[in-house]
Order: sequence, then C-alpha cells, then structure tokens
Amino acid sequence: MWYRDHEILYTTSCGSITMGRVICIVNQKGGVGKTTTSVNLASCIALAEKSSLLIDLDPQANASSGLGIRLSAGEPSVYDLLLSREVHQRIIRRTALDCLDILPASQDLIGAEIEFVSLESRERMLSTALETIRPLYDYIFIDCPPSLGFLTLNAMVAADSALIPVQCEYYALEGVGNLLKTIRRVQSAFNHSLEIEGFLLTMFDPRNNLSHQVVADVQDHFSSQVFDSIIPRNVRLSESPSFGKPVVLYDITSSGALRYMSLSQEIMNAEGERDGEKAYSIGARS
Ligand SMILES: Nc1ncnc2c1ncn2[C@@H]1O[C@H](COP(=O)(O)OP(=O)(O)O)[C@@H](O)[C@H]1O
Ligand SMILES: [Mg+2]
Repeated sequence: MWYRDHEILYTTSCGSITMGRVICIVNQKGGVGKTTTSVNLASCIALAEKSSLLIDLDPQANASSGLGIRLSAGEPSVYDLLLSREVHQRIIRRTALDCLDILPASQDLIGAEIEFVSLESRERMLSTALETIRPLYDYIFIDCPPSLGFLTLNAMVAADSALIPVQCEYYALEGVGNLLKTIRRVQSAFNHSLEIEGFLLTMFDPRNNLSHQVVADVQDHFSSQVFDSIIPRNVRLSESPSFGKPVVLYDITSSGALRYMSLSQEIMNAEGERDGEKAYSIGARS
C-alpha cells in the first residue's frame, strides 16, 4: 500500500490506515523474555496480516539481530528518530515477513539518557516521533531495555498499553511492585490512557514444581490480567535468534511458535472487544 508523508512517496509492508495500537514490552529485570516476546508476538500478529512494526529500544539491539538486522556504524537507527535527525522512511526496514517492519536500534542509544538530559520534553521524544508512524500500522511493539530509565519511560509515555513478561522462576514477582508504581506515575504525570495489556508467564517448565507455583501465584495476584497463553521453555525459541529469524520461520510446529500464536490471538481478540465496547458506547450516546 502507498502513502504520502513528508512529500516522500513510500510503502509500508501491509498497511491499513488505522491508528495503530502501541504496546510496550516492559520489565526492568533482564532475561525474563521481553525480546523473545517482542520479536515473536510481532511476527505472529504479522502472520495474521496485521501490519506491524517492532521498535527496538534496547541498546543491546537483540530484537534487531533476532530479525536479521545488524546495523553498521553510521547507519540510521531509532536514536536518530528520537532526535528527529532522520525521517522514519530511512530507518524502518522490511523483514522476511510481509507484514512486519522493524525500527532497529544501535549502540548510540547507550548514551541517550545522559545526552538528552537537558532537552525539553525528553520523556515525550518517542511519542512525538510516533505521531507520523502510528497511522501506518495496526500494531506497534516496543522492546524495552532492562531498566526503568529514560528509554523505558519514553516507551510508556508513547504506548497505549504495557505487556509485562514474568519468568516462571525464583523471585518471579521481584520488582513487579516497582514496575507497577512506575506505570501509575506515568499514568498520572504523562499518559492517562496507559493500560496494562497483561502479564505474560514465560519459560514455563511443566516438570518443575516451582513453575507451577509461580503460575498459581501470578494468577492469584493479577487474576484476569494474566494471559491464558503461557509461554513454555522451548529450545526453538532460544535457537531462532541466531538464525536471524522469528520462531514461526524457524520451526512453526514448535511449542514456542504455537503459544506465541495463541498469545497474538488473545491480543487481537481483546482489541476486538475494546472496539466493540467503544462502538456500543458511541451508539448508546447518540
Ligand atoms: N520461552 C523460552 N524458552 C527458552 N528460552 C527462552 C525463552 N524465552 C527467552 N529465552 C531465552 O532466554 C534468554 C533471555 O530472553 P530475552 O527475551 O532476551 O529476555 P529479556 O529481553 O527480558 O532480557 C535469551 O537467551 C532467550 O533466547
Ligand atoms: Mg531484551
């Protein structure tokens, strides 16, 4: 599909003209499955022919390399987008999936927190940059770094919702209280409409009693906010990034691929329900 923007004619992958839903994948703990979820959820949604963009907001750039994109020095990245130094058309890349694009990260992001400290509205840099990009996609996912710093704050200010991966491990809920406090602060100071998309249990091992205990605890704490889809520990999910592929292109029959597909369905269903409620309340008012 063709669009005209900033007088440059260009295409996006699948594109329907809507206001895309922006979902940030967030947890300040490292290694809980944020990047794995970002890459594979965005890919499964793209397989359902929803135009999707994955924004890599982590200086480690694992989401970019997981989709086969490694920037060389000087190539524009999300860093240049935040600074409005480059138009998004020159940063966003196609991926092997028709409906999935990526806005890649580079190591420049490491210094962003300090470099941007004196800039005005620095917590809204991503939100502002997304104004022209949002209408081009049905879904935009943001892979956050493992901290609650400037980059994660920018993601939360730009997002409609936060998806929180929780690893089925010791201390699974450690830090989640702080994360929820941060979300509440962002809601009251910057983004009233930020929602919790849901808690996602990751790396579940059915042979491990502890895994079952964590599932029970998290469901107990957060009840209906926990996704029904639980992501199993699956070796295919950890192998696929080294081939620069999402798991659906590496082994679509794997348990990891199947569960990320069912997660993507849950998210699309929830959006359908929200749209239905909106239409109902507009109808009821008129
Ligand atoms: N469900 C899973 N099964 C097996 N390995 C996983 C799974 N989810 C993540 N991993 C692996 O665990 C490590 C950390 O996951 P990652 O998604 O990078 O976490 P984060 O982005 O939160 O730091 C990576 O090596 C990844 O391949
Ligand atoms: Mg990561």
